[in-house]
Amino acid sequence: MIEGVRRVQDLMEQERYVTDRAIATTVFLAMELRKPILIEGPAGVGKTEVAKVLSQALETRLIRLQCYEGLDANTALYEWNFPKQMLRMRIEEGGGLSTQEKEHLIFSESFLFKRPLLEAITEADQSPVLLIDEVDRADEEFEAFLLEVLSDFQVTIPELGTIKADHRPYVVLTSNRTRELSDALKRRCLYLWIDYPSYEKEVRIIRNRVPKITEQLAAQVAAFMQVARELKLTKVPGIAETIDWAVSLMALHQEHLEAESVSETLGCLFKDHEDIVRYAGPRMEKLVGALAAVPFGELPEARDRVLAAVDGSAGR
Ligand SMILES: Nc1ncnc2c1ncn2[C@@H]1O[C@H](COP(=O)(O)OP(=O)(O)O)[C@@H](O)[C@H]1O
Ligand SMILES: [Mg+2]
Repeated sequence: MIEGVRRVQDLMEQERYVTDRAIATTVFLAMELRKPILIEGPAGVGKTEVAKVLSQALETRLIRLQCYEGLDANTALYEWNFPKQMLRMRIEEGGGLSTQEKEHLIFSESFLFKRPLLEAITEADQSPVLLIDEVDRADEEFEAFLLEVLSDFQVTIPELGTIKADHRPYVVLTSNRTRELSDALKRRCLYLWIDYPSYEKEVRIIRNRVPKITEQLAAQVAAFMQVARELKLTKVPGIAETIDWAVSLMALHQEHLEAESVSETLGCLFKDHEDIVRYAGPRMEKLVGALAAVPFGELPEARDRVLAAVDGSAGR
């Protein structure tokens, strides 16, 4: 591994983000080549967290644009502060300014509401991290507009002129893949796929985020998660659920997984009523029992066997 990639990995791990080589390499390249990173993957695998951790590691500001259906360029860029403009016009009444001077006055920067994209472009001190979160939720028209902004980091405000970034932001886009993004956007970015963590990675994450947990419980929780994600679930639990669950088990003074406490705390993991009804009770007993019978370190080979014991069939 080259020095730069290792340094990125160390920086991210210092911020308690368990990083593998693929993630560290992409982040390193994004910084070297000054390209946006597009991170795709299922919900709850640490996509958004990359941007947060990056801004902490670089000690720079994180500016977040949360995307949603119907998000338009104005809401993402800037809006005029209309009430403030009106008030100022009232104050200036009879003050002797010409119409042109008044216009000049109220269409100036202090009457502007900066939205995330303009904030990122006008950041004065150093390059911020611009997080464009869940871009798949915005519509294609917005994506085309984004592409423009990301290509030259400048915007034109008719009343003010063109504003160009002094410090080009680091850009992280995330997508939960509810729709396919355009080729043009993908072409502009470095692509990173983050999947559900491997067993080893999840053990490290648990130990990292729940420092007081015993090695045994961390291993059992991670093994459970590997199996749980293969169950027939409406909502598959992510890493946040794993951490919440581990913390809850600690709060209940559990030292190892037992069917009863697992069923009782299932609400930390499964956030869908039907999932809970389906698996709490007898099925959970079978699952925990089958897991306990797997010798240490034999997952994932034993995963299908455990699943078969629970659902009568393997896989989702
Ligand atoms: N690699 C990791 N190391 C440590 N914690 C992680 C890691 N990945 C995810 N997490 C935890 O899981 C939570 C959910 O991650 P998030 O970035 O919000 O998921 P996503 O954006 O993919 O839906 C985060 O708040 C973080 O605490
Ligand atoms: Mg997210």
